[in-house]
Amino acid sequence: MTCIRLVLRLLLLSFFSLLEAVSQDRIRRSNVVLVIFDDLRPVLGAYGDSLASTPNLDAFAQGSHVFTRAYSQQALCAPSRNSLLTGRRPDTLHLYDFYSYWRTFSGNFTTLPQYFKEHGYYTYSCGKVFHPGLSSNNTDDYPLSWSAPAFRPRTEQFMNSPVCPDREGILRKNLICPVELQTQPFKTLPDIESVAEAMRFVESRKHNHAEPFFMAMGFHKPHINFRFPKQFLSRFPLQKFYNYTEDRLKPPNMPAVAWNPYTDVRARDDFKHSNISFPYGPISQHQAAQIRQGYYASVAYVDDLFGKLMSGLDLDNTVVVVLGDHGWSLGEHAEWAKYSNFEVALRVPLIIRSPQFPVTKPKYHHDVSELLDVFPTLVDLAGLPPLSTCRSNQDLTCGEGKSLYPQIMGLGTADEHVALSQYPRRGMLPTKHPNSDKPKLRNIKIMGYSLRTDLYRYTLWVRFHAQNFSRDWHDVYGEELYDHRLDSGEEFNLVPLPEFDDVRQRLRRRLMEVVGS
Ligand SMILES: *[C@@H]1O[C@H](CO)[C@@H](O)[C@H](O)[C@H]1NC(C)=O
Ligand SMILES: *[C@@H]1O[C@H](CO)[C@@H](O)[C@H](O)[C@H]1NC(C)=O
Ligand SMILES: *[C@@H]1O[C@H](CO)[C@@H](O)[C@H](O)[C@H]1NC(C)=O
Ligand SMILES: *[C@@H]1O[C@H](CO)[C@@H](O)[C@H](O)[C@H]1NC(C)=O
Ligand SMILES: *[C@@H]1O[C@H](CO)[C@@H](O)[C@H](O)[C@H]1NC(C)=O
Repeated sequence: MTCIRLVLRLLLLSFFSLLEAVSQDRIRRSNVVLVIFDDLRPVLGAYGDSLASTPNLDAFAQGSHVFTRAYSQQALCAPSRNSLLTGRRPDTLHLYDFYSYWRTFSGNFTTLPQYFKEHGYYTYSCGKVFHPGLSSNNTDDYPLSWSAPAFRPRTEQFMNSPVCPDREGILRKNLICPVELQTQPFKTLPDIESVAEAMRFVESRKHNHAEPFFMAMGFHKPHINFRFPKQFLSRFPLQKFYNYTEDRLKPPNMPAVAWNPYTDVRARDDFKHSNISFPYGPISQHQAAQIRQGYYASVAYVDDLFGKLMSGLDLDNTVVVVLGDHGWSLGEHAEWAKYSNFEVALRVPLIIRSPQFPVTKPKYHHDVSELLDVFPTLVDLAGLPPLSTCRSNQDLTCGEGKSLYPQIMGLGTADEHVALSQYPRRGMLPTKHPNSDKPKLRNIKIMGYSLRTDLYRYTLWVRFHAQNFSRDWHDVYGEELYDHRLDSGEEFNLVPLPEFDDVRQRLRRRLMEVVGS
């Protein structure tokens, strides 16, 4: 085993030196475009979803490396993005909510765009890349991460405003919100604005610029509300979304702490009068179908914009990465939205295209990967000095993930890869006020750590001390084990079954090892 690893490492090293020689020969380095979709799970044709209408992402995947089992570090926007962009786990950043900035709170850690900026790239952010607000210092971490102030669409501010005309034409704060652009503020939508700006930027870099660029383009959709140009809805007959999943019941052996009551969905005008029983629902079959239809239509809408963006890029000279910041439950085991440690909330699309490693049909990689891996992978694909693996929090420029470069090169992996995700709770039971889906740091009492291995998902909910960020492994509030060979929907918690004791113990040890003390 060690011997194989050594050989692989040597191979890798010789490849790197070859690469360096090649890139020194080249006149300029590749540009890099990072595309982030908000709340996108892999409902794409390229991921085998037959209901999806994603021709542009599917065409893009044709020439790309598609990671079929990629996972987010936490199913919430700000923690997931800060983790992705700093290459550190939420536990290292101490950010599980929206309200602290890592540079002042945890450590002055180098970000992915900052690393490129410091290596001669012009870096630019369009749309929702960092989560706005305190978690990125109200500046999207400009100027350290970006060469120019980040572009934010001016219509972003209407995200929670009454902008959805109902049948009588009265504007509502609806969840399902197909619109005519003419009825909208400034007659446009945030993603349309961001893509126009991204294309303007790319065009402006085509001439007379010696330095390559790193651009991040963050789409606001399919995050709720499902507000998109009306015509996208007609691609999705509602009947197709009734029997979307057979798994419609709350899992019988699920610990209460695992449940997220999808408070954000309930709060919208078109749902708040339907008396959805708290915390477990269910949502009516009709409304369930409407949510799924709205989600798919939102994805079709951003797929269309993604196609426009790609048409403006020189793909022979650009590394492109496409991902979702985390998933979204569409009614599986009666759950909706994110805010959990279930597969549906954590699994994301991750598609990487590199002119250096062209393929003519999707090259599927089935090893487990994490969003943490994106930072070191992009650094390797651009031929920058490799990002070192973090040894301590005093090390400001490093990553906690692993580069996927060997897989993209076709070398495969020597070790079994696992993904670690986490979600905080303020208590055992779901609550509406305060909203247990989004606990603030000081109220966190329980942390759910979830390990995805090749075959299993193992989740352990333990006591967490928000004052000193420590956890007590012996104070357990819930334990879950799902065998993905038999139960890809995670409906049957195997923890009560003695036959699985050995697996459970082994995974618990592994989980504690990965989390560290
Ligand atoms: C943080 O690091 C950057 C360089 O990575 C440096 O310019 C800045 O001064 C540092 N800030 C603090 C507060 O140390
Ligand atoms: C964060 O924002 C404040 C202004 O609100 C600014 O003074 C400070 O320099 C910023 N910090 C960094 C690291 O950019
Ligand atoms: C969904 O499945 C049920 C049976 O499980 C069937 O009665 C119903 O007609 C189906 N609905 C649609 C819209 O296909
Ligand atoms: C919801 O409950 C309220 C009060 O109990 C009732 O007036 C209303 O008709 C219910 N709505 C629906 C859609 O059942
Ligand atoms: C963290 O704080 C808790 C509660 O105050 C305390 O019980 C625990 O021992 C502390 N842990 C560490 C590692 O300091």
